[in-house]
Amino acid sequence: MNYTLSDKEKNQRLVWSITRSVLETDSYKHKRQGKKSKSHWNLFTSILGLFVFATKILGLFQKGKSNVFNISINQHRLAFPDLPAAFDGFKILHLSDLHIDAVEGLDNAIIERIKKVDFNLCVLTGDYRKESSGVFTHILSPIEKISKQIQSEFGPLAILGNHDTYLMANYEEESGMRLLINEKVELKRGEDKIIVSGTDDPFSFYTSACLMAFTPEKAFKIAMVHTSELADIAAENDYNLYLCGHTHGGQICLPGGKALISHQTDGNKHVKGFWQLDKMIGYTSVGCGVSGVPLRFNCMPEITVFELVKEQS
Ligand SMILES: [Fe+2]
Repeated sequence: MNYTLSDKEKNQRLVWSITRSVLETDSYKHKRQGKKSKSHWNLFTSILGLFVFATKILGLFQKGKSNVFNISINQHRLAFPDLPAAFDGFKILHLSDLHIDAVEGLDNAIIERIKKVDFNLCVLTGDYRKESSGVFTHILSPIEKISKQIQSEFGPLAILGNHDTYLMANYEEESGMRLLINEKVELKRGEDKIIVSGTDDPFSFYTSACLMAFTPEKAFKIAMVHTSELADIAAENDYNLYLCGHTHGGQICLPGGKALISHQTDGNKHVKGFWQLDKMIGYTSVGCGVSGVPLRFNCMPEITVFELVKEQS
C-alpha cells in the first residue's frame, strides 16, 4: 500500500472502532435522520426464502444462478473541465457489493474479468461478505486473492458497507487495500493531485464522523460512500464524482430492469447507473455480487471502469 495513516487518523480510527462496535450490536440502524428499527428484516428474509422456493418450482433457479456469474464490464468516459491535466485519461476500476462468500467461485469469476481491463486505481464501495453479522474471517483469503489483481499505479481504496464489520479494519494491511474510514487521501502525479474521500456506511452506521471525510478544499474530488445518502454533502463541498453501490440495482428485476426492491427511500433516482446533483456526477453500481438470494434476474452484475478525461473549454 502506498498510503500511510497520520497519528490523527490513527486516533480517529480508535474512536471510530469503539463507536462502531457498539452500533453493530444495536437492534437499530443508525441513519442521518435518526434510529430505524431492523424488525422488518426477519419478514424480508422469509419472503426471500419463499422467492427461492418459487424459482425452483418454476424451473428458474439455475438461470438466476448462472446470471450471477454473467458479470459485465461497463466502461464509461467522463469529461470534466477542472480535471488536472496530469490525470487526463485516468482510469478508475469500480467494484461494489462483492459479497464474496454468497456463491462459490465468484472470486475467480471477478478475477478473470479484471484481467481484461486496464486501470490506474481500483475503488471498492463496500459489502464484502454475505451476512451482515457473525463470522467474517473466511472472506479474507478470497479478498486477498482479488486484491492481488487490483494493484495498479495507486493502491486500491476501499470503504465499508452495511454488511461489513469494524473488525475487518484489523486486516487492512494483509488485504493490500487502504480503507477510507471517514478519511481522505491525495493521489499525485507531479504537481497535480486529486482527492479521494471515503466514509463509513451511512445506511446502518451513520455518525457525524462520516462528515470528516469531506473537504471544502478546492481540488478535483471523488467521494466513495456505500450508499447515495451523503450525496448532498458531497455536492455542497463541490465534489466532482460520487461512487456508491448498495442497491444491487434491485438484483431481482422485472423484464426491462425495474427493481422490485431496492431499499431506497427517495424513489428510483439512485437505484443504478448515473445521476447528477448540481455539478456532481453520481454513479450507483449494481454490484458484482449478490446478497439475500444467490440469484439475479434482469439485472446483470457489473464491473465498471471510468475513464476521466479533461474537457477542453
Ligand atoms: Fe450489498
